[in-house]
Amino acid sequence: MKILVATEKPFAPVAVQGIKEVIEEGGHELVLLEKGTRDDLLKAVADVAGLIVRSDKIDKEVFDAAKELKVVVRAGAGYDNIDLAEATAHGVCVMNTPGQNANAVAELVMGMLVTLIRNRYNGTSGTELLNKTLGIHAYGAVGRNVARIAKGFGMKISALDPWVKDEVMIADGIQPVHSVEELYKNNQFVSLHIPATPETRGSVNKALIELLPKKGVLVNAARKEVIDEQGLADALADRDDIRYIADVKPDNAAELEEKYPERVLFTPKKMGAQTAEANINAGLAAARQVVAHLKDGFNRFQVNK
Ligand code: 3PG
Repeated sequence: MKILVATEKPFAPVAVQGIKEVIEEGGHELVLLEKGTRDDLLKAVADVAGLIVRSDKIDKEVFDAAKELKVVVRAGAGYDNIDLAEATAHGVCVMNTPGQNANAVAELVMGMLVTLIRNRYNGTSGTELLNKTLGIHAYGAVGRNVARIAKGFGMKISALDPWVKDEVMIADGIQPVHSVEELYKNNQFVSLHIPATPETRGSVNKALIELLPKKGVLVNAARKEVIDEQGLADALADRDDIRYIADVKPDNAAELEEKYPERVLFTPKKMGAQTAEANINAGLAAARQVVAHLKDGFNRFQVNK
């Protein structure tokens, strides 16, 4: 059977090679579409049984065009780019590969923090992370990796996650926090790791951002949609000490960069999972999951019902 890897942001070549091997060992054929147009995607899905994507938008139009499709694996964690209801309506299983690229995202978070507080290495005196407070907004795979690395920097770490028991955080040396207000109020640095869902979209708003203590820094390597962008702009205007870092830059990024060149830091393109290691981890996991699904219905990481 044909398995399509369709990525607007390609995997590292070494990962593509590994994916090819897994697919061929499973007795299937790899079809590769990198940086394709929407039309290319709609044509390429026509006769494939499996599909591997990253943040690529997979909606009704794609499912309608994919007559043979049985399984989609999002090589990564967040699956807000896939219309799950349409997948179910078309009888397609959707899975993700949780945790596989988490370290890459966490390393970028810490790297961007250092870059900002060292004033982008411009020769002026910056500040340090040692003994500073870090609040982790959602203690999933990425949040845990951020905590692990931040411990090495000697930060004081707390986390909010209603799905994680206090004992788990305490065992990791993390202070559990039970309200979002408490998290933002008591930490100079807050790192966001919530998914984009109907409940979280726009939930990080002006009131919340302005709870940050003096010289507060909010980092978003999760999804741009969770930020209320007007609220962010207003908070940056109201408070001249607040700073914002994002790997998923807001629509008003250019305006914010122009107004507050020292207080915002954005990657030009979403880079969190863009390492050879993360591409290999997530890409190979995705390939194995597609092959296993086509073989015997493997569905351990299914996210649609
Ligand atoms: C994820 O959800 O796994 C990350 O946001 C990475 O997304 P990407 O594959 O588009 O880089």
